[in-house]
Amino acid sequence: MTPKNLTSAAAVFLLLLVVCSATSTGPRTHHHHHRRLPCKRMIFYFHDILYNGHNSENATATIVGAPAWGNTTILAGKNHFGNVVVFDDPITLDNNLHSPPVGRAQGFYLYDKKDIFTAWLGFSFVFNSTDHKGTINFAGADPLMNKTRDISVIGGTGDFFMTRGMATLSTDAFEGEVYFRLRADIRLYECW
Ligand SMILES: *[C@@H]1O[C@H](CO)[C@@H](O)[C@H](O)[C@H]1NC(C)=O
Ligand SMILES: *[C@@H]1O[C@H](CO)[C@@H](O)[C@H](O)[C@H]1NC(C)=O
Ligand SMILES: *[C@@H]1O[C@H](CO)[C@@H](O)[C@H](O)[C@H]1NC(C)=O
Ligand SMILES: *[C@@H]1O[C@H](CO)[C@@H](O)[C@H](O)[C@H]1NC(C)=O
Repeated sequence: MTPKNLTSAAAVFLLLLVVCSATSTGPRTHHHHHRRLPCKRMIFYFHDILYNGHNSENATATIVGAPAWGNTTILAGKNHFGNVVVFDDPITLDNNLHSPPVGRAQGFYLYDKKDIFTAWLGFSFVFNSTDHKGTINFAGADPLMNKTRDISVIGGTGDFFMTRGMATLSTDAFEGEVYFRLRADIRLYECW
């Protein structure tokens, strides 16, 4: 190597060092800026058939709380404000109520605004199949008039140990006050 070549080789080496140390400044800070891409994405449907006094054989949800002006058979006036519903809904891979369920959506929703339809959801997807074993836990505001609503994936167990992420809900069907079907587009950002 000529001295000139040596100096340029040294310069390239130095440059590499600088670049390497610049990009590796603290994996901690880097961690906060990682790209917002989900590590897992899944789409499910769940089906809610609300008990109305006549459908006890196939109801999957029931009113357990009502405001003073209502009762636990029929959702109350004033946008159902104050009603609390407990559900155990089948989860399917497509939007057909009669498709084989792959799990259960279990939890509650409560209506929490007098002047518009809006609810709060707290529930788990419970899986015990060959594809998935474990639970995914969800919580968040569900402003029903929004075409899509984002709720938090706050944790999980089993196959979904320690998971976190987001679920975008949309109402795929709504039939009176007896049946509705939600589409859940789940994006997990922490997978173990
Ligand atoms: C509930 O079951 C009855 C009897 O099988 C059926 O006629 C009705 O359509 C079912 N309701 C829903 C929402 O599937
Ligand atoms: C419940 O309230 C509805 C009206 O909001 C009424 O039609 C129905 O009879 C009530 N049912 C009972 C069991 O009180
Ligand atoms: C899951 O399914 C297996 C096999 O059917 C059963 O033995 C087990 O008790 C189930 N676990 C839960 C938590 O339901
Ligand atoms: C509801 O929709 C509005 C406007 O499209 C949006 O800004 C808001 O984030 C949505 N709320 C939820 C909980 O998704």
